[in-house]
Amino acid sequence: MQIFDTIESLRSYLLQQKQQGKRIGFVPTMGNLHQGHLSLIKQAKSQSDVVVASIFVNPTQFSVGEDLERYPRTLEQDQTLLIEQGCDVLFIPEVQTMYPKGELTRVSVKKISNLYCGASRDGHFNGVTTIVCKLFNIVQPDVAVFGSKDFQQLAIIRQMVKDLMIPVDVQAAPTYRADNGLALSSRNGYLTEEELAIAPAIYQILTWAKASVQNKQSQAQIEKDAQAKLVQAGLRPDYFHICHADTLQAATDEDTHLVILVAAYLGKARLIDNITFEI
Ligand code: PAF
Repeated sequence: MQIFDTIESLRSYLLQQKQQGKRIGFVPTMGNLHQGHLSLIKQAKSQSDVVVASIFVNPTQFSVGEDLERYPRTLEQDQTLLIEQGCDVLFIPEVQTMYPKGELTRVSVKKISNLYCGASRDGHFNGVTTIVCKLFNIVQPDVAVFGSKDFQQLAIIRQMVKDLMIPVDVQAAPTYRADNGLALSSRNGYLTEEELAIAPAIYQILTWAKASVQNKQSQAQIEKDAQAKLVQAGLRPDYFHICHADTLQAATDEDTHLVILVAAYLGKARLIDNITFEI
């Protein structure tokens, strides 16, 4: 695996690859890789000749008081996993490379960036779209793969790519779950043994809510009951919303393509998950 930490060296390597007609796949990450990330690499590999992963803990997507400082940094272990998975290129820029002195620009997708996770995490999605746009400009991939666990992030990135006419095929990979249903996340590492036993309740409640929507029960009541179930399980719900899967607006009775989005606090972690379905 080739490793680059400067924009110039990565660009010049990728230019050579593109000149040979190679198709570039890209998986941006913040590191502390788990099976979920590796499934993104696998998907990118099946669609391209050269797979580029990036590891960059992006400061602009952390709100004040969040876990930027303690976000797990496990570069050596990540490199081993990427090599095992057959990743071809790793980009590990420094903060001053991605945000050089004097930079002034932020990329912001209006409306949907302020909903749900955006409402609780001020400026979070502007940080995400800014860094993903920069990374797309550096790598210029043919295809980029993102996990479906971050459903709102994916919707916002798709909107940015469409609005800014960025020539990349943005693909979603299915959420990678443990056998007990818990969606894999680097933030699960903050959970104690006891909390790890509680966390699978999130997916169980999502599955219950999906069945309840399909049984035509009142959506407002389902949202209310789901929050109560989260509390009962030992979680502190941030939000639980039944939405249209494309617009992310509250679902109406006529909508058929739905997603249920949830965020809940557990110990030191804020966990998110979702479930998509048709009715
Ligand atoms: O999903 C993530 O890990 C991050 O938000 C991303 C897309 C790598 C941008 O920093």
